Amino acid sequence: MLHFANGQDVQATMDIPTPHSPLPTPLLRFWVCSKVFDERDWAWMARAVRLARRGFPAPNPHVGAVIVKEGVLLGEGYHPYAGAPHAEVFALQQAGERAYSATLYVTLEPCCHFGRTPPCTKAVISAGIRRVVVGTQDPNPKVAGKGIQQLREAGIQVDLLDPQHPLVSALEALNRPFLFRYRTGRPLITLKSALSLDGKMACATGDSKWITGERARRHAHRLRAEHGCVLVGVGTVLHDDPQLTARLRGVKNQPLRVVLDTHLRTPLSAQLLDTRSAPTLIVCAESALSRAEPYRQRGAEVVGVPVRNGCVDLQAVITLLCQRKVIGVLVEGGSQVHTAFLEARLADRVALFYAPLLIGGRDAPTLYEGQGAATISQAYRITDVRQRKFGSDWLIEGDIVYPDNQVGAED
Ligand SMILES: NC(=O)c1ccc[n+]([C@@H]2O[C@H](COP(=O)([O-])OP(=O)(O)OC[C@H]3O[C@@H](n4cnc5c(N)ncnc54)[C@H](OP(=O)(O)O)[C@@H]3O)[C@@H](O)[C@H]2O)c1
Repeated sequence: MLHFANGQDVQATMDIPTPHSPLPTPLLRFWVCSKVFDERDWAWMARAVRLARRGFPAPNPHVGAVIVKEGVLLGEGYHPYAGAPHAEVFALQQAGERAYSATLYVTLEPCCHFGRTPPCTKAVISAGIRRVVVGTQDPNPKVAGKGIQQLREAGIQVDLLDPQHPLVSALEALNRPFLFRYRTGRPLITLKSALSLDGKMACATGDSKWITGERARRHAHRLRAEHGCVLVGVGTVLHDDPQLTARLRGVKNQPLRVVLDTHLRTPLSAQLLDTRSAPTLIVCAESALSRAEPYRQRGAEVVGVPVRNGCVDLQAVITLLCQRKVIGVLVEGGSQVHTAFLEARLADRVALFYAPLLIGGRDAPTLYEGQGAATISQAYRITDVRQRKFGSDWLIEGDIVYPDNQVGAED
């Protein structure tokens, strides 16, 4: 039972805040009984993780925080969007002077540097917090253990969850693009598509609206916000004229919209050139830059990069996005762009929505065209596969493993 300062008592629920995998109860018991954390610690941290799921903070991480003293909840918060105060600040504000000598449960190591907001370690120390329980370390080199060190140097007891703790897996899934960006130095690249059961992305005529239903499309908006960047080829702009925004309540920072458009064929009337709603970056050949002015006048950024095989070079595009501190790229097609990312082995994950439809047609595009694998052992495998249902559609997600890295591909 969790006790709230307002006198309300709430049964601590043990659900783990990952959208995908409920944890088996024996596993939870093992962790509750065997580590330095008791059952209450576990429940308060689980609450902080649930809070962390709220908000759309890309390119920042999801963070939740809870302040507790003698079993009573004094304050809580989460990081709602980049530029807003951090979770710890909301929780400390709510707790006020009662935070003195309390325990702070926070899902990510508190920051110790001046960014858009002042360091959280300073606020935690001046509030007189006695103990801090940290979910995961922040891989951002500006923090990376230094936040924990500062707290310990100030005499605060800091307990870090064991990396094998089930809550840590939940946090890893929640902050996947953020953690990937800081661990690898480049954004996580996810190929997202809406497909029929026979693997078609559109009819042979080019019509593709709508393959999936309302609920699947709403989740796709969440994926856009989580990645912080959406990328298409000019073919999709010409066929579909998409907005590529994340139209969900609570999204303050719209994703960066990127169009790969070697020869600047994007129509000036395209919806994504309405840059009042979201920023747009058009990547073209350096030779096309002389025609960039009308796009710039509409507020879009136009950048020229080298050309490879007649199209803008994907590696150069990724370098560009790294420079802009993008944590994740949701590639929304079409077929040519998906194929290019797969053939260049630059895609890390798939998020494929399957609708109960058969479209058919030899000329109807599929996700992955080109030459294809010569043998099944050379096919790209998807690992850590997860599935979720949205209305009558299924989302299949997983990591792409390229043949050279595959173990036991002949199974
Ligand atoms: N079901 C879905 O989820 C979904 C999603 C999106 C689109 N679609 C459908 O897909 C169809 C459009 O497919 P598409 O293949 O033409 O669109 P696309 O992949 O979005 O655009 C292809 C174009 O992108 C440009 N491009 C620039 N750099 C590239 C690179 N490195 N690699 C590949 N392409 C690059 C090329 O034009 P330049 O050479 O002029 O630069 C190329 O022709 C439409 O029917 C649309 O409705 C379906």
